[in-house]
Amino acid sequence: MDKFVIEGGTPLKGTLNISGSKNAALPVIAGALLADSTVTIHNIPRLQDIYTFNNVLRVVGAKVDFNESANSIEIDPTHVSYLEAPYDLVRKMRASFYMLGALVGKHGYAKVSLPGGCAWGPRPVDLHLKGMEAMGIDISLDKGYVIAKAGKSVKGGSYTLNPSSVGATVNLLLAAVLRAEDFTINNAAKEPDVVQLCNFLVEMGADITGLGTDTLRIRKVGSLKGVRIHNDPDRIELGTYMIAGAMHPDSELKLTGCNPNQLGNFPELLRQTGTQVDINGTEIHIKAPQVIKPVSIETAIYPGFPTDLQAQWATMLTQAEGESKVTDTVYFDRFSYVPELTRLGANMHVDQNTVNISGKTPLVGASVMSTDLRASVSLVLAAMVAENSSEVLRVYHLDRGYESLENKLNPLGAKITRVEDK
Ligand code: EPZ
Repeated sequence: MDKFVIEGGTPLKGTLNISGSKNAALPVIAGALLADSTVTIHNIPRLQDIYTFNNVLRVVGAKVDFNESANSIEIDPTHVSYLEAPYDLVRKMRASFYMLGALVGKHGYAKVSLPGGCAWGPRPVDLHLKGMEAMGIDISLDKGYVIAKAGKSVKGGSYTLNPSSVGATVNLLLAAVLRAEDFTINNAAKEPDVVQLCNFLVEMGADITGLGTDTLRIRKVGSLKGVRIHNDPDRIELGTYMIAGAMHPDSELKLTGCNPNQLGNFPELLRQTGTQVDINGTEIHIKAPQVIKPVSIETAIYPGFPTDLQAQWATMLTQAEGESKVTDTVYFDRFSYVPELTRLGANMHVDQNTVNISGKTPLVGASVMSTDLRASVSLVLAAMVAENSSEVLRVYHLDRGYESLENKLNPLGAKITRVEDK
């Protein structure tokens, strides 16, 4: 139960490299189970969620070698025999539910625990299950587990996701590529994580059309061969550090190893706050404004404003001159960071799925509690510009999705100390 002790008030100056993407890596790691031979994935971040998922794969019998110093994973799926993903691991990380599509897709059977609750309200998986049933897979529930059964091939047909869902699109792709005669996903997610999975499956030999669109058509193939791929950089980590670079008037950052094409209109919105944002190939240069202008946003599915950046954006707006709003249309109550920022002196109020923010309010150090991955990093961003010292408790939430954050930020001027919280 580590905590961060953060001395605030210092600008960030220098170069920071962006790690591989957590949310793009997880679907590919699951997809490796569909192959007939070894898969190698480069640019994998050293994150708790990756370690957890590697263990889920080991439970079913896959051989997983994570060369951490090289940030690369080798997965040998040829000895998978135990077709069950236990509650004890799935409850730690929802994306373990991708095992359902991967195991029933490859082996015609899967028993996977339902993911259970989440810090910010219901996150159902009904679309995953209904989509598989529409494909012709037999789905039943037993004591908190989903059991999926499918013959050598299933008819397919089509299924329309409403709302669009990253997880359901991933699970239906994994289930269909080796099993569905002809299946179409309508209103499929277009997130870069889904596009990377499609490219990976096609490279292994899958027959998928409509990549990058909201209509994906899959026709089964006999087998898939293992390949070597390079995982995308983390666009949410990138967005988080771009915001960090805008929050102290003297901050200036160069972010390397980026893919700016995956940011939709985010760079333009950040420019509207007065921040200088210069994109040069895989590098992004950020220079903070002397005064942050209040720019309200509304989250949406890709390429709209990512819900995974709304907490960080709202945190920046507490330091903007004027009134602003942040509305989340993907998750209606993802605002557990608000009472914690209020403890630091922020002036913000939640009204249904919108937080109203009045700035600029000086922040003053205090103890604050992490509740989930993105909420925890927004507390770190606030503590770095607050006067005096803050404690951010339970940073294990943050370790799930930010690779060695303090080792990246301290060389740039941050004063973050990780302390074991007894
Ligand atoms: C993925 O979650 C990401 N997780 C989330 O990032 C991200 O917030 C989310 O997509 C939205 O962009 C990973 O990639 C591992 P969804 P996922 O299915 O797949 C509803 C982070 O911080 N829905 O696209 O679980 C759902 O309730 C994490 O890294 C159903 O109603 O999200 C939500 O309102 C947090 N039924 C909406 O769809 C379903 O069966 C979008 O959810 C599935 C989803």
